[in-house]
Amino acid sequence: MPTRTIVDATIPSAGRVYDYLLGGHHNFEIDRRAADRVRTLIPFLPKLMRLFRWCLQDLAYELTYVRGYDAIVDFASGLPTSDHLHSAVAPGTTVIYSDRDPVSVEYGLEILENTPNVHYFQADCRYPLEYLSRPEVQSILNGKRKIAYVYWGISMYLTDAEIKNISKELYDYADDDACMAFYLQPYDPESAVGQQVMELYSKMGDPLQFRNLPSFKELFKPWVADNLGYRTMEEWHGVESPLAPEEMHFFPDKTVGYGVYLVKGK
Ligand SMILES: C[S@@+](CC[C@H](N)C(=O)[O-])C[C@H]1O[C@@H](n2cnc3c(N)ncnc32)[C@H](O)[C@@H]1O
Repeated sequence: MPTRTIVDATIPSAGRVYDYLLGGHHNFEIDRRAADRVRTLIPFLPKLMRLFRWCLQDLAYELTYVRGYDAIVDFASGLPTSDHLHSAVAPGTTVIYSDRDPVSVEYGLEILENTPNVHYFQADCRYPLEYLSRPEVQSILNGKRKIAYVYWGISMYLTDAEIKNISKELYDYADDDACMAFYLQPYDPESAVGQQVMELYSKMGDPLQFRNLPSFKELFKPWVADNLGYRTMEEWHGVESPLAPEEMHFFPDKTVGYGVYLVKGK
């Protein structure tokens, strides 16, 4: 992928497309056009994305206020707008965002404006060990008691082998009381909409991957779900589906996705 800078507004950026769909202002014309094409295919996408962000806030609360994690390492973060993790964690929590896209990182740092305890680095989430070993990350994490790792809204960009590698690297690296929070999306790749969406993302240079829930469970091994198990996004946030019944045909499991807290189970 060519290196992009914040002034390169000629290629849509997944992070800025996401920001636009969430109603944000950190995007360019090229992103808005790509987002509008996605929205034409999936008109309910903004509703879905808002639900995902609410669930992300539930997760921030659960991990820090309820489970006592004092550091969150978030992968493939997108733009850290005001509804992202750092706005919902317990005071004093360290949040380290990262994204592969240099434009998102540059914009992200601008949005954060030196917010205390919040960091943003460029990193490829497929290689967590390389990232976590970096001196700048180590110097932030040193002394933290419990670290939670978050992969939210990224599973569709990862191949099976990549998810397997992430699970293994983090399992070997993390302390016994660590947690890996994951949001996973089972979609129907055979549906006409599924095909068109896949084609559009392929053109943007971000081809999508789809798989079912049992396949995910296999890829996460040896991590296991904690006692809450795999919960649908609707259960996670305690709401009815924001989608109309006719919009659900895209989702073979009759849910828009699952969230899970993966633990070592030792
Ligand atoms: C759908 S957004 C999700 C943002 C955020 N996690 C959330 O749930 O709101 C996906 C993000 O993943 C980033 N991304 C895609 N592949 C990546 C990779 N291999 N490593 C790091 N970031 C990646 C994109 O740049 C984009 O910002």
